Amino acid sequence: MDISWKSGEVAGIFDKARGIPEYILTEVFAEVFDRTGFAGKRCNVLDAGCGTGRISFPLAKKFPNLRIRGVDVSGQMLGLLEQKIEKSGIQNYEIEKASLLELNEPPGSYDFSIVSSVLHTITDWKTAVDNIVNATGGYLVLVSETSGMYRLVLNRQKYGEGLMDRFWGEYSRLRKKYSLPGVESTQVGIKWQLGCPEVLEYLKTGGLLESRFELSRRWATEFTVDDLVEIVEKKAYSHMFTVDDVAYGHVVSDLKGWLKKEKIPNLGRVSTNKDIKVEVVKLAVRG
Ligand SMILES: C[S@@+](CC[C@H](N)C(=O)[O-])C[C@H]1O[C@@H](n2cnc3c(N)ncnc32)[C@H](O)[C@@H]1O
Repeated sequence: MDISWKSGEVAGIFDKARGIPEYILTEVFAEVFDRTGFAGKRCNVLDAGCGTGRISFPLAKKFPNLRIRGVDVSGQMLGLLEQKIEKSGIQNYEIEKASLLELNEPPGSYDFSIVSSVLHTITDWKTAVDNIVNATGGYLVLVSETSGMYRLVLNRQKYGEGLMDRFWGEYSRLRKKYSLPGVESTQVGIKWQLGCPEVLEYLKTGGLLESRFELSRRWATEFTVDDLVEIVEKKAYSHMFTVDDVAYGHVVSDLKGWLKKEKIPNLGRVSTNKDIKVEVVKLAVRG
């Protein structure tokens, strides 16, 4: 089963739950363009599985020399991106609704192809990578991220003192109570790991990796308890919407009941660290 990000609710919560500050993205990509000799030069960029344009929309605004094409299967995610593009008036971003499994671009069309948080939602991720590589003449830019918040969801054994730990601990307990599968087992495609080691290995094995470098950044962000409830209710992470809706509804309502019982204020604030890693792979010339 592949995960289709079709729910309008997921699209609506995505940027809020998974936001990356624009200065982080533009700083990191300025360094990518510098180190690859593309700074200020006109270049074609594919954002493969672009979603709401969380990664590439800020780049289109900051670097007018880029010609970006965002490809995604989800009309809801693309709808939000379209609104952002129209509102900003930028002219260097094109959208296409298509599957990466059927991507059929002339070989070497792009100087850079960005792949961010998408291969873990595609069972046959290797075919998607093959298609993206084929369309790319220059560099593959693999963006991965993780946050303290996400690690807490993954680590069901961790019940700390902090509000964030307690919230996700209760969420995990309730998932178990309603016999929902573990977070990891509901992921398809590659494992969620900082640095995309599985993709790098696949490229190496296929003789596609000529050279690489990596960049990373960390920042802190804050959520209110209300935000966390919205993240759970609107299913901001893929493991939240691959499960049975009825049982998940019970998890959400019990979680709200628990917050009341524990007298946890809606506006209580929690902070978490977020990490982003950008692997820049110069693709080997193919015959
Ligand atoms: C977690 S979102 C990431 C979006 C964006 N890359 C980012 O980092 O913000 C995953 C995206 O992959 C898209 N996706 C999943 N399978 C796809 C496929 N086969 N072809 C194109 N897009 C796909 C989904 O529609 C969704 O928008």
